[in-house]
Amino acid sequence: MTDLLKLLDLTGDGITHILDTADFLKKEWKQKRKHDFPAGKTLAMIFSKNSTRTRVSFETGIYQLGGQGIFLSNADSQLGRGEPVADTARVLSRYCDGIMIRTFAQSEVEAFAEYADVPVINGLTDDFHPCQVLADLQTIRERKGKLAGLRVCYIGDGNNMANSVAVGAIKCGMSVALACPEGYRPLPQVVAYAQSAGDFELTADPRAAAKGADVIFTDVWASMGRESEAAARRDAFRGYCVDDAIMSLAGKDCMVQHCLPAHRGEEITEKVFEEHAAEIFDEAENRLHAQKAVMYLLMR
Ligand code: CP
Ligand code: NVA
Repeated sequence: MTDLLKLLDLTGDGITHILDTADFLKKEWKQKRKHDFPAGKTLAMIFSKNSTRTRVSFETGIYQLGGQGIFLSNADSQLGRGEPVADTARVLSRYCDGIMIRTFAQSEVEAFAEYADVPVINGLTDDFHPCQVLADLQTIRERKGKLAGLRVCYIGDGNNMANSVAVGAIKCGMSVALACPEGYRPLPQVVAYAQSAGDFELTADPRAAAKGADVIFTDVWASMGRESEAAARRDAFRGYCVDDAIMSLAGKDCMVQHCLPAHRGEEITEKVFEEHAAEIFDEAENRLHAQKAVMYLLMR
């Protein structure tokens, strides 16, 4: 692995190696032991979209590894004024040991990786959110003791989270049921991959998808960049709220995962959210550990 652009690029063993490293670093950190990582590494962190978790977990993570994060927003970098990605990537490669990017087009992250001489990490695009799903898989494995054989359900928009959950879960040997309304389906390349590689079902019926689930995922109905569609989406996603009725169809001890931020009363009820808050905030915490693992493996 030289970059982390999307989970489609990794093998199941590659994902497991990242999760094992994440568990190891989490344990070291909790026991206040020093990580074996060269001091003084810098991570450029480019944000073209808002963030709380991704920014703070990457910045804290590189600091805990003995390095430093450099926050670059579009509002105050030349990238935001139109400097080409190809030039920015080559310049940052001369200063920094890694580049993390959150932006709109997946092609921009891929272009960064093409031109950069240092590892590039996708911190969310319209298409994928690989760091989030690594943290989610770490959380599920911690709580369930395994991944292979579990049944994962995702209810909602066929967005960056749906795409990454489907790919990550299939690569880890889980069976996957996605419930997305017509017109809001995951990427065709993701559906094609999932159908060919594992036990995968795509339906418009959230109740069918939830049946027997060990983990139910959901995410916002209007992702960043889609805010103007919020009202139309509220109509399209009627019946897609993870509520008690959906949870009653799931398996015993079914977990709930939400990458956050959450919109209570839309994709999830306040009650289901709060009943599963421990799992959801473990998931948020594991962003730190999973991303430290990615940096540890890519930037040493
Ligand atoms: N889950 C997630 O990526 O959160 P932020 O948008 O706050 O980074
Ligand atoms: N799907 C959401 C995830 C936010 C972390 C978005 O892209 O806005």
